[in-house]
Amino acid sequence: MTDKLTTTAGAPVADNQNSLTAGERGPVLMQDWQLVEKLAHQNRERIPERVVHAKGWGAYGTLTITNDISQYTKASVFSQVGKTTPMIARFSTVAGELGAADAERDVRGFALKFYTEEGNWDLVGNNTPVFFVRDPLKFPDFIHTQKRHPKTNLRSPTAMWDFWSLSPESLHQVTILFSDRGLPTSVRKMNGYGSHTYSFINAQNERFWVKFHFKTLQGHEHWTNAEASDVVGKTRESTQEDLFGAIEKSEFPRWKVQVQVMPETDADKTSYNPFDLTKVWPHAEYPPIDVGILELNRNPENYFAEIEQVAFSPSNIVPGIGFSPDKMLQARIFSYADAHRYRLGTHYEALPVNAPKVPVHNYHKDGAMRFFPPATNNDAYYEPNSFNGPKETPAVAEPPLNIDGNADRYNHRLGNDDYTQAGNLFRLFNAEQKDRLFGNLAAAMQGVPVEIINRQLVHFYRADPEYGIGVATKLGLPTEGLAAAAE
Ligand code: HEM
Repeated sequence: MTDKLTTTAGAPVADNQNSLTAGERGPVLMQDWQLVEKLAHQNRERIPERVVHAKGWGAYGTLTITNDISQYTKASVFSQVGKTTPMIARFSTVAGELGAADAERDVRGFALKFYTEEGNWDLVGNNTPVFFVRDPLKFPDFIHTQKRHPKTNLRSPTAMWDFWSLSPESLHQVTILFSDRGLPTSVRKMNGYGSHTYSFINAQNERFWVKFHFKTLQGHEHWTNAEASDVVGKTRESTQEDLFGAIEKSEFPRWKVQVQVMPETDADKTSYNPFDLTKVWPHAEYPPIDVGILELNRNPENYFAEIEQVAFSPSNIVPGIGFSPDKMLQARIFSYADAHRYRLGTHYEALPVNAPKVPVHNYHKDGAMRFFPPATNNDAYYEPNSFNGPKETPAVAEPPLNIDGNADRYNHRLGNDDYTQAGNLFRLFNAEQKDRLFGNLAAAMQGVPVEIINRQLVHFYRADPEYGIGVATKLGLPTEGLAAAAE
């Protein structure tokens, strides 16, 4: 039987084709409440798009544990081989707006929400293990260079290269972005990384530092710039078509989940700062350990309700998983929930896609759209109370973290090696990959003032002379002065 069409208040609608008018030719009567409701609703159909990562694609799936890592973490999600936890993933590009074309060279977001038995654990990562900046004070500046110029309303290569050339910590991520991996054909064909260092806490309350990796089991696949412009000419929604289509056909994408684990006290011994988001931990020192399989196997029923309204936050951790001193992570712990309260409203965590699959008890009150049922125990609306209100769980307290040093604004660019890891990555590329990297960089630098280009060429040269010379040559610029400038 077909459902009865109703107003939002549930009353049946007699006519959904013709407005209520005075006479056949009009005018329309103000009492046409159904017309007013329809137009008013339409005016409110958009919410603010995400300030970054606005264009996205998502699906539901599962995390299945294949190996026991309970020696490192007591998190229930990892407690047993064979355990399966439901989750949702949202992938995205960073810079483009909600309607941006999918096949653009950009970092891809790789955001995961695991609905665990101890609350939601969100891992809000990217398809790259590092990032452009290492101090959160620079994040809004960096994003401004990726968005539109205030006057021209165009994206500005000058702004991008000006910022990057003045921020050598970006070199590692810039090298990834302009390599083949900067333009994956689909999110199914790329890895994901938690990127930051997080912590694991085990049942003995010992802390380990941890990095999360998601290795695609579909194989890596990338487009060249030329292939991507062909794709965008034909469809702007190539990733949505690919991901949604694959899941509809029961071709469920899968990733091998791995962790790198570092004993807590090793953090003082490594030659690099293990909490610096522009650095990787060499696999030879901290080999990846298999944990499980991530599989996406169900498309959302309603894109807006489930993918636009999904709200990920690095602050969502569960017992057994914690933060690290990484400055960028610390800022993100604040920034995401703040963004959600603005974008979705105070009670965004109660929306079906965000709601944990466990009971929620807290002493927050009221606010716009407080739509969920009241607590059964109405007298316990403050804490402490004598009315059997929800109580703390001291057993989940983390072990104390040793911190020392003077509070100050430390210059993160002093004495920090921004070149070795970027150069190591460059040296892994074969001749064709290097040639495409040089070409992609030269193409992206068109129209940028030569003094900015020269400043950036010095960074490439410092990572590896072949890198600097290769890009300069593609740009038709002299290479003789590079060695001296890089001293
Ligand atoms: C989205 C802030 C760095 C990955 C966002 C949003 C904000 C934000 C405000 C929009 C949230 C929303 O409206 O739902 C920041 C700040 C950063 C930072 C302040 C640094 C200080 C990073 C890094 C990564 C990352 C390092 C990856 C390792 C993402 C992803 C999304 C996102 C994947 C989209 C999440 C989704 O699909 O809903 N970020 N971000 N961000 N960010 Fe960041």
